[in-house]
Amino acid sequence: MQNLGEAMTDIRPLVAGNWKMNGLKEALREAWAVAEGVAAKAPNADVMLCPPATMVAVMAEATAERLMIGGQDCHVAASGAHTGDISAEMLGDAGAAAIIVGHSERRADHGERSQDVAAKAVAVHRCGMTAIICVGETAGERAAGLTLKVIERQLAGSLPDGVTAANTVIAYEPVWAIGTGLTPTAGDVANVHAFIRGYVRSNTTDGDGMRLLYGGSVKAANAAELMAVANVNGALVGGASLKADDFLGIINVYV
Ligand code: PGA
Repeated sequence: MQNLGEAMTDIRPLVAGNWKMNGLKEALREAWAVAEGVAAKAPNADVMLCPPATMVAVMAEATAERLMIGGQDCHVAASGAHTGDISAEMLGDAGAAAIIVGHSERRADHGERSQDVAAKAVAVHRCGMTAIICVGETAGERAAGLTLKVIERQLAGSLPDGVTAANTVIAYEPVWAIGTGLTPTAGDVANVHAFIRGYVRSNTTDGDGMRLLYGGSVKAANAAELMAVANVNGALVGGASLKADDFLGIINVYV
C-alpha cells in the first residue's frame, strides 16, 4: 500500500549532479569515472551531470550514452545580442538533454523572479529538452511557517503552460540546506513533496508521473533515507557530485 498522496505510477528516478561554477578540463576524469561506475552498476535510475557551459560539449562526447548531460540556466531567446548569455538551443546543440532553471542561486544572485524562471522553462521546452525547475524556502520563511505558501507561489509562477512529466522535473531545494550540511527531516521532506505532488496533479495533465527531486546537502551518508521518502524520485546534488566516488555513493541507493 503506498502512502497517501504518493504518485501511483512507476517513476524512474533521476540523480542529477549540479557542478555549479566548478570544473576545469582536468575534472573531466571525474565525469568519466562516474560514467564508468554507472556502466558497471547499472542503477535503476537515470544519472545526469550538469557541468558549467564550457564543459557541456566535451563531457557529452566523453560520456556518451552512459550519462545524461544537462546545462545550468539559459537565456529566454534562441539567439541575439545578449553578450555573455547562452541559449537553450546552444546547450542542446552542445549535447545537453536538460537545463536547470530557477536555482536559488540564480534567484538570489541575479534577481530572477518566478516569471523569469517560467520564461526560461519555455525556452528549454522549445528545444525539446527537460527543464529542471527548482523551488525552495529560505530559513526565515521556514521559521515563519511559510514553507508551503512559498513553494506554492514559486510553483504557480515558475511552471509555464505545457509542463508535462516528460519535459519537466521539479527539484525541491530548501535554500538553507544548500551547501550547508543541513537537511530537513525525512518528515519535512515528505510534507513538502506530498504538497508538490498534489500541486502538479491538480495543475498539469500527468503530474502523477512527474519526477520530484530533493536537493540540498545530499551525500552518500543521508541519500538512502532521503530517497526513501514518499514522492522523492531522485536527487539534485551539488558539492557531492564533484567527486566521482562521492556521487557514485549516492547513486548506489538505486543499485
Ligand atoms: P549541495 O547543492 O548539494 O551542495 O547542497 C545542491 C544544489 O544547489 O543543487
